[in-house]
Order: sequence, then C-alpha cells, then structure tokens
Amino acid sequence: MEALKKEFPKLSLKSFYIPYEISQKLLTPELSLKWVEKAYLWLGSKREKVQMPEKLYFFYQDGDMRVMPAVAEIDSYVISGIKTISVHLDNLKRKIPTVVGFYTLVDSKTGALLCIMDATYLTAMRTGASVAVATKYLYNEKSARVGIVGCGTQARTQILFVSQILKVKELIIYDISAKAIERFSEFLRRIKVNFKVAKSLEEFSECDILIT
Ligand SMILES: NC(=O)c1ccc[n+]([C@@H]2O[C@H](COP(=O)([O-])OP(=O)(O)OC[C@H]3O[C@@H](n4cnc5c(N)ncnc54)[C@H](O)[C@@H]3O)[C@@H](O)[C@H]2O)c1
Repeated sequence: MEALKKEFPKLSLKSFYIPYEISQKLLTPELSLKWVEKAYLWLGSKREKVQMPEKLYFFYQDGDMRVMPAVAEIDSYVISGIKTISVHLDNLKRKIPTVVGFYTLVDSKTGALLCIMDATYLTAMRTGASVAVATKYLYNEKSARVGIVGCGTQARTQILFVSQILKVKELIIYDISAKAIERFSEFLRRIKVNFKVAKSLEEFSECDILIT
C-alpha cells in the first residue's frame, strides 16, 4: 500500500471549498447580474461549445436530488462541473432553504477537483438574475406592474433583481401559505417595496410581468 501511495503522492492542483457563508460574501447582486447576462449572451451565440447531458433525478421520501453536469469551451479554456441540487419541501420547518445544493468544478485537462462550492446561494442569485435578464430583453418599458406567485427564497432574489432593471410601480404577491406571505411582506417592507397581497389569482391579469 505504501509503495502505491508513493507512486502519486498528491494531485498537482490545489482544490478549494467555498461554503454558503462565504458565497454570500463573494456573490454580490452586481456580479451576479453581470455574469448571468454574459453567460446567456455567450450561450446564445456559442451553443455548440456547451455540453449539457440529461439531468439525473433521485427521489427520497422527503424530497429529491438533481444532478446536472455541464461542460463549456470558452476560447481555449474548458470549464466543467456538476451542480447537485435538492428540493426538500419541509426544509423551511428546519429553518434551511427548500432548494439546497453544491457545485463541483473540475480541471478538464486532468479531471482533478478544482473546487467544491455552495450552490444554494448561487442558485437563488442566479434565478433572480435570470428573471432580471429576461425582463431586460423581453420588456421594453421603464416601469411595470409586477406579480409574484410563491413567496419563498427565489421570490426574494427575483424582486431584488427585477427592481434593478425597472421601477416596480405596483407589486402583487400571492402564496398558499399565510406564514410565507407574512415573512415575505416583512422582507418587502425592509427593502422598501410597496406591495399588496392578492385575494385571488384573477388580480394577476393586470400585471405586465408575472413571476412564478
Ligand atoms: N428553474 C430553476 O432554475 C429553479 C431554480 C430555483 C428554484 N426553482 C424552483 O422554484 C420553486 C420555488 O423555489 P424556492 O426556493 O423559492 O422555494 P420556497 O419553498 O422557498 O418557496 C416556495 C413558495 O411557494 C409557495 N407555493 C407552493 N405551492 C403554491 C401554489 N400552488 N400557489 C402559490 N404559492 C405556492 C410555498 O408556500 C412557498 O412559500 C421550486 O419549485 C424550485 O424547484 C427553479
């Protein structure tokens, strides 16, 4: 065994771990918006440079896990990795987000691990930024009546990012959980966004932008 260990005592590359708390510090809204927009523009023009094999799904009693591999060839640099994300609907009772995950980044030259990083905060920021990028390219006005159905984690980043793209002249929110509405209302008051709670889904027909 010792002889075997001496053959390859270490991998040549250093690898990093970026936990949730650090990704919260590193990933600013500005950076997220800038890079999500760049990524979509790049993907639109270089689709042939990306491999995205089928997702794998695993089901547990309390939720599921989705494994999402991807490889992108950006000029001479090939970046590859796997996002592993879980959806556990009872997590909020445990005071952790419903959507939880991590990302493994691999050096495509050697296959060695470069980095394991949180994908919980990353996903929430990416989802919010994606909505903002879609709004920027699909909606031409400077202000809008916005509706949000589902007042969870993604709703928070979605409203934060959309507010950076245009003026939200009216926000209507809805959730099947009264507790979720109450907590989201507190969040909206903290970020100083005026809103009203919809009594029925018909009220959303007045919205210019509907986020679900
Ligand atoms: N496509 C993507 O890239 C992507 C990324 C992240 C999350 N998601 C999905 O977005 C959804 C929300 O994620 P989250 O992190 O905000 O979850 P969350 O649990 O924090 O929030 C979801 C909210 O939706 C509410 N809800 C459930 N059913 C509803 C209904 N019929 N009508 C109105 N409200 C309802 C829940 O009460 C809860 O408050 C999940 O289904 C998740 O899988 C997709």
